[in-house]
Amino acid sequence: MSLPPLSLYVHLPWCERKCPYCDFNSHERAGIPEQHYIDALLADLRVDLPLLQGRSVETVFIGGGTPSLFSVAGISALLAGIAGLLPLSGAAEITLEANPGSAEAEKFRGFREAGVNRLSLGIQSFDDACLEALGRVHDSKQACTAIEHALAAGFDSFNLDLMHGLPGQDAGGACADLRQALRYRPPHLSWYQLTIEPNTAFHKRPPTLPGEEGLADIQEAGESLLQAAGYRQYEVSAYSLPGRECRHNLNYWTFGDYLGIGAGAHGKITLEGGGIRRQAKKRRPESYMGASGAGFTATTRLLGPEEIPGEFMLNALRLNRGFSLTQFTARTGLSAATVVPTIEDLCAKSLLRLDDGQVVTTARGRRFLDDVVATFFPD
Ligand SMILES: C[S@@+](CC[C@H](N)C(=O)[O-])C[C@H]1O[C@@H](n2cnc3c(N)ncnc32)[C@H](O)[C@@H]1O
Ligand code: SF4
Repeated sequence: MSLPPLSLYVHLPWCERKCPYCDFNSHERAGIPEQHYIDALLADLRVDLPLLQGRSVETVFIGGGTPSLFSVAGISALLAGIAGLLPLSGAAEITLEANPGSAEAEKFRGFREAGVNRLSLGIQSFDDACLEALGRVHDSKQACTAIEHALAAGFDSFNLDLMHGLPGQDAGGACADLRQALRYRPPHLSWYQLTIEPNTAFHKRPPTLPGEEGLADIQEAGESLLQAAGYRQYEVSAYSLPGRECRHNLNYWTFGDYLGIGAGAHGKITLEGGGIRRQAKKRRPESYMGASGAGFTATTRLLGPEEIPGEFMLNALRLNRGFSLTQFTARTGLSAATVVPTIEDLCAKSLLRLDDGQVVTTARGRRFLDDVVATFFPD
């Protein structure tokens, strides 16, 4: 089986303040031990190098946490270290996540010079009351300034993260946020519905969110607004101008391979000899920084053949274009016959559509996506 394309995810786990809705591996910390952490990241990557199995890396995503809290010198050393250790494809997409609260014009220019060619800005909303309800450290003016800094620094490729279904928000409010974002003509928009995750402050003290009808109104109004503005929805929460999809995330959703370095980072690797391996790094930043050699990795697991269809669908069915049965076999090493009966069953329930070997989630399937995916996992 030929190996899929390879990406690299780098996790930087610190933030100025923990947001009450966030369940990412991110921690409040005043002083960041930059050099120590970068040394650990590169040592971790060195251990993972055999997993390249002769491939170049097509995309790098530096996520968090708040990577823009790192200095330009730190990000520059990190990217130089990565480029020194592995072959980066000439056209590699290199994204860095940045928060408006830590956006400085000079810094953005520096990140660009260091090799970052795509910025992902965590805007969330342009409404000060919503930003406050979300516990964000920035206000709407800072959100606009951050986008202006990104443009001035020459980032022609950038993403804006927005959330909707916020406390007190209606379709009018959500669309006002989208309209404000569209003024900057971002090539890419991630539009997430706020979810209440376990182990977050919002889970302990839930805010009042719009009801089901309100959420459906927001979704419908937002989708048509984005469509009218020339944006194509290509995944559950991802919208882009034509040809400007996020290559890194597309690699996840098409069941490509990725290395994950940093505290709690996950990796997925297809082995030349057959089989798919998942691994996760030590989660606590302090334990991670104290590790060496094989010690960076907390867990490694070879997926059983019975788990692979579900893992594939978890990703591929999120895409509007779905997947082809040929692609299923190429990425999993399994015959299409292992999933066709289940697919046909779901087609009969109008949850999936199968046309000429292409499997697509229907509008109804989208509403029940978790249940659809669950049918591909063993009981
Ligand atoms: C990895 S987070 C970090 C980005 C950056 N630190 C920030 O918050 O600005 C990526 C995005 O996920 C979204 N997100 C995080 N928690 C969420 C939640 N509970 N519900 C919906 N979206 C969420 C936010 O839009 C966030 O910008
Ligand atoms: S800034 Fe981003 S990563 Fe950090 S706590 Fe807030 S949502 Fe989570």
